[in-house]
Amino acid sequence: MSEVIISPSILSSDFANLGRDIRLIENCGADWVHIDVMDGHFVPNITIGVPVVKSIRRVTKLPFDVHLMIENPKKYIKSFAEAGADIITFHFEAVERREVIEIADYIKSFGIKAGLSIKPKTPPEEIIEYVGYFDLILVMTVEPGFGGQEFMPECAQKIPLIKRFADEKLIIQVDGGINAQTARVCTRLGANSLVAGSYIYNAENIEDAIKSLR
Ligand code: DX5
Ligand code: ZN
Repeated sequence: MSEVIISPSILSSDFANLGRDIRLIENCGADWVHIDVMDGHFVPNITIGVPVVKSIRRVTKLPFDVHLMIENPKKYIKSFAEAGADIITFHFEAVERREVIEIADYIKSFGIKAGLSIKPKTPPEEIIEYVGYFDLILVMTVEPGFGGQEFMPECAQKIPLIKRFADEKLIIQVDGGINAQTARVCTRLGANSLVAGSYIYNAENIEDAIKSLR
């Protein structure tokens, strides 16, 4: 795998041609498939659920990077793991502090990677004590809920602090408003996984767009 993990978000794909659009990013050099799960409660939007993940599992061998923007994530982890998730990331703001480590262990009990995400208004200091229990930390660089929003540079400034408490295996991912310019800002600060939806799916040449993020 390349040094920076590129995880295109299928939120910006054509849902009427989802299988085709996943094969497209696979053929254009994507490392993972980013799947945005929204419940209409934790965020105002509703997107993809377990049955869709199960169906698209057949069309690609790429790892499924499932980003849960839902309340009560623990309730759905087993279903998403069995549907084929390879990484499950949940939101720190969606759970009680006392549950964070337990949920990380629960995700890992399915033999997959566990991720913890923070929204723009959550200070990175809040999650430092939990970093060691996770394979991935996702720093949101927009308010979660919708694709196509503008990158918030102040959010990327959280990366160095997280990196200071990380071992060399930790994946630090950013999500929201990522394009060739903002990707560079994030990787310079220490991010090693980039989620991009509209930048990749709206590109005239998807292969070039993915390359431009590396
Ligand atoms: C936002 C989602 C993102 C979204 C990114 O809540 O978590 O993954 O698809 O879209 P872009 O890259 O267009 O900002
Ligand atoms: Zn996402």
